[in-house]
Amino acid sequence: MEKLVIEGGKPLEGTVRIDGAKNAALPILAASILAKGIHVIENVPNLLDIRVMLQILEALGCDADFREDKVVLNTDGAREFHIPEHLMSKMRSSIFLMGPLLARFGQVRVYEPGGCAIGLRKIDLHLRGLEALGAEISEDGDTIVCKADRLRGADIMLDIPSVGATENIMMAAATAEGITTLRNAAREPEIVDLQHYLNAMGANVLGSGTDTITIKGVESLKPCRYPIIPDRIVAGTLLVAAAATKGSVTLENVNPAHLHAVIHVLRRAGVSLQVEGSSISVNNAARPKAIERIVTAPYPSFPTDMQAQIMVLLSLADGFSMMKETVFEGRFKHVDELVRMGADIRVDMNTAFIRGVRRLYGATVEATDLRAGAALVIAGLAATGTTVVEQIHHIDRGYDRIERIFQHLGASIERFVEAPAVKHSS
Ligand code: EPU
Repeated sequence: MEKLVIEGGKPLEGTVRIDGAKNAALPILAASILAKGIHVIENVPNLLDIRVMLQILEALGCDADFREDKVVLNTDGAREFHIPEHLMSKMRSSIFLMGPLLARFGQVRVYEPGGCAIGLRKIDLHLRGLEALGAEISEDGDTIVCKADRLRGADIMLDIPSVGATENIMMAAATAEGITTLRNAAREPEIVDLQHYLNAMGANVLGSGTDTITIKGVESLKPCRYPIIPDRIVAGTLLVAAAATKGSVTLENVNPAHLHAVIHVLRRAGVSLQVEGSSISVNNAARPKAIERIVTAPYPSFPTDMQAQIMVLLSLADGFSMMKETVFEGRFKHVDELVRMGADIRVDMNTAFIRGVRRLYGATVEATDLRAGAALVIAGLAATGTTVVEQIHHIDRGYDRIERIFQHLGASIERFVEAPAVKHSS
């Protein structure tokens, strides 16, 4: 078991270059299955979830070579349409392979996916979308089999703008016969990135970034070279960490347009931010201001993936704040841990009521999911005393050696591997 030990209270100082976005890279790697040949995907972050996706692609028969930030993927050898259960249970994003495998092989067998325990996280919209394109779906316990001799374009309306369902349907429809119109689609920047990748392979997809996406099916796709967009959530996490520690940090290789809602909220909290081209600087000396009400919602609203981190800042703010989580039902697990560090937060259903305190204090806390873990690291960096964050494998899913990023910014943070307990025989 690994843990992070943080001596808090040092303002973060320095410059960081932001890596590629996990949530863009995962569907794009899955989409590579659609075209036989050698794909070169650049600006890929070195994260646990990415390595699991590559393991799955290898289990399906692809060859993957991941060096520096570049993945060279040969999909010629892909023969399998059955995703191994032990890999599927490691990560929800394995579900992204449903659409591409169905399109390439006419069938796919998957299991209920794993992933962060932040809510029910159903996959009914993915399945209904594939069904509308002509797939026959049968479920037997945890096993789901989808079959279709030929996928056909359809008019599909999503009940809610699910990111994953939008992506799966776009991928499945790219080589379907005829036109697919996807309504109430998610509008996240990662979906725009997927459109650009599909089109670079020869697909005909229009409208991503709006709520209606049109996919004109093409006969076949060809491999290409493609760079992933910068990670807006890693960037947002670092902006909050800089603000919470009253630091001075510049981020490079960001797309500020993807961070409008986060920048807006930080400015409302009184954080001084300068945006210039593809860089954002924070320079925060003052105590943050409380924010009356923040509501998470699909893009372009405030992202659920930044809710936990912003809650740390509001825990230290002058006054009362309120945060409502509308995307996932179970995404307040960091609250108990923050309370152990001295935060004053009460949760009622999907709303957290936060009374700002002057200080947080170091404690031993547990990362319950990826973003909750990142929030606890921020809390530890801003707190007085020593914080130990346990269960950090969750954090490794979305941040490349988070301790190195913060060490580079002057923080006192170390990763320790706990030795397993030794049994003594008498
Ligand atoms: N939902 C359904 N049925 C479905 C699909 C979704 O009811 O078939 C519900 C979910 O239970 C949830 C809501 O719809 O309540 C939104 O889920 P969505 O499908 O949009 O999320 P996702 O595709 O599972 C992606 C990101 C998440 C991010 C959400 C929302 C990836 C790999 N994951 O998940 O990222 O929180 O969109 O923006 O793209 C993270 O990076 O920490 C993370 C959890």
